[in-house]
Amino acid sequence: MEKIKHSWSPDGRKKYDRIPVAEYPSKVVLGIQEDYCNLACPMCMVHGTNKEPSFNIKDVATSVMPMENIIKIMDEVKGSSMISPGYFVEPLVITNIKDVLRAAKERGVPITMVTNGLLISKTMAEFLVDHVSVISVSIDATTKETLVKTRTTSRLQRIQEAVFLLLEKRGSNQSPRITVNFTIQDANRHERDDFLQFWIQHVDAVRINEMYTYERGADNLVVTRDRTPCREIYDQMNIDFNGNVLMCCVDGFRQTNLGNVFRDGVYNVWHGEGFSAVRKNHEEGNYDAQQLLPIVRALGQLHYF
Ligand SMILES: C[S@@+](CC[C@H](N)C(=O)[O-])C[C@H]1O[C@@H](n2cnc3c(N)ncnc32)[C@H](O)[C@@H]1O
Ligand code: SF4
Repeated sequence: MEKIKHSWSPDGRKKYDRIPVAEYPSKVVLGIQEDYCNLACPMCMVHGTNKEPSFNIKDVATSVMPMENIIKIMDEVKGSSMISPGYFVEPLVITNIKDVLRAAKERGVPITMVTNGLLISKTMAEFLVDHVSVISVSIDATTKETLVKTRTTSRLQRIQEAVFLLLEKRGSNQSPRITVNFTIQDANRHERDDFLQFWIQHVDAVRINEMYTYERGADNLVVTRDRTPCREIYDQMNIDFNGNVLMCCVDGFRQTNLGNVFRDGVYNVWHGEGFSAVRKNHEEGNYDAQQLLPIVRALGQLHYF
């Protein structure tokens, strides 16, 4: 994003000039089937063992996104957006994931995917390399003992092999871009440097980020610069299974709703009242007008290598 001009309001808030909004978001996230994950990582606010006890995703995600709606969205955004299947879930447990990826490929819509890697067999690796533009595998450990603590599974070898299978199937081609993720927690902090040193030799990028919690904080959050409007509200649309649009990539509890794409289409919601109000609030420094903001700010602290 370009540097944005700002001024100061009488009460000391930094106000930004209107930020231009593209015709369509560059990334559209589709919550196709959100009610089940094949892991229960403690940190995960939706499926984890440490989540808010009163929250049960099965009470919220009561149906799946119909294929006809998925196709309608793809047809509307093709040429403008990339699609990420799965909002707060493991995308490879989505029952019709292959149909979704085939439909995207037929329309020339690029796919970006974040996965825990466990369901990547040889044939799945081949399929993904053929249908996906960016694949990020979340690992969060360099040892089995630590993986059990961060991801409730000891199958480290299986996950590492998944990354190597993807790399092998890609061969000397440029695509897909293959990256790995490491979310820092007390259980794995000591493995951070080894993780980076090992994986940076093999993949295109290593993403290391701090953990956020369902109380809406972020571990070790250090704000080193003035708050700026969140990039995501100008870049990304998160569409839930029922067409409702969630304001933020971390609204796992489904507390926000900026409009409904099944009813009004992507363009109308993207330029509609909900998004316009949030953007205006950010540009005017009214960050407290929306509840999820501490996390949004925390996510601005991601580290890339
Ligand atoms: C919600 S997961 C969904 C994709 C897939 N199931 C996976 O684990 O990669 C997307 C990313 O969010 C990260 N994540 C989950 N809970 C988190 C938390 N509390 N703080 C920071 N990142 C988190 C995961 O490690 C993963 O890289
Ligand atoms: S694999 Fe992903 S979605 Fe599933 S519990 Fe872990 S972080 Fe959450």
